[in-house]
Amino acid sequence: MTRVAPSMLSADFSKLGEEIKRIESAGADWVHLDVMDGMFVPNITIGPVVVESIRGLTRMPFDVHLMIQKPIRYVKMFADAGSDMLTVHVEAEGDVKAALKEIMDLGVKSGITLNPGTPVEELDPFLDLVDLVLIMTVEAGFGGQSFRENGLSKISYIKKYAESNNPKLEISVDGGINRDTGKRCVDAGATVLAAGSSLFKLNDMGKEIALWKTYGPNAKE
Ligand code: DX5
Ligand code: ZN
Repeated sequence: MTRVAPSMLSADFSKLGEEIKRIESAGADWVHLDVMDGMFVPNITIGPVVVESIRGLTRMPFDVHLMIQKPIRYVKMFADAGSDMLTVHVEAEGDVKAALKEIMDLGVKSGITLNPGTPVEELDPFLDLVDLVLIMTVEAGFGGQSFRENGLSKISYIKKYAESNNPKLEISVDGGINRDTGKRCVDAGATVLAAGSSLFKLNDMGKEIALWKTYGPNAKE
């Protein structure tokens, strides 16, 4: 069954707690939290204090997308704040492999991600260290951008790797996901759909999430 991870970047931050409850009652599987440092990307969003403050509100896993330079500096703080998964960018400054090892040592699931302009082969050295690969289908930094088609072949590439090496590998996709692009990503091999604007703008998010969950080969499971 396809899992859905609403991106809180599109939530109303003046009532974050209610927004968490809203996605939970809509049937969300994971909470996608976008961390931006104003250096790796131009935007600045949330830090460990915010993650910690919402941790007690739900049991949904926190899928934390770190768009920050030298992520190793912060993985412990985000793990302690209650993250279940920590995903780092392959393009980030610093020792990415060491950051992934640190994440594993902290007992948190590890993920690697890449921007649309980065060739998928650049993930090769890291694939045996991760539980999740996040394919960015927009340039990291802002919500509400249009889906970039070149993500589809990257998903297929990672799916092939997963089939022969790690069938449990989660393949998530993030950026410009809606009911159509989401379906195409699942058909290419994605197991998780992260989406902000297309979900939060809806009055009935539950109906949409239920539809997305029907995508994929094992939807009836
Ligand atoms: C972008 C973030 C995304 C973003 C997606 O840097 O990683 O998670 O919230 O937003 P939409 O779904 O609006 O493209
Ligand atoms: Zn994200």
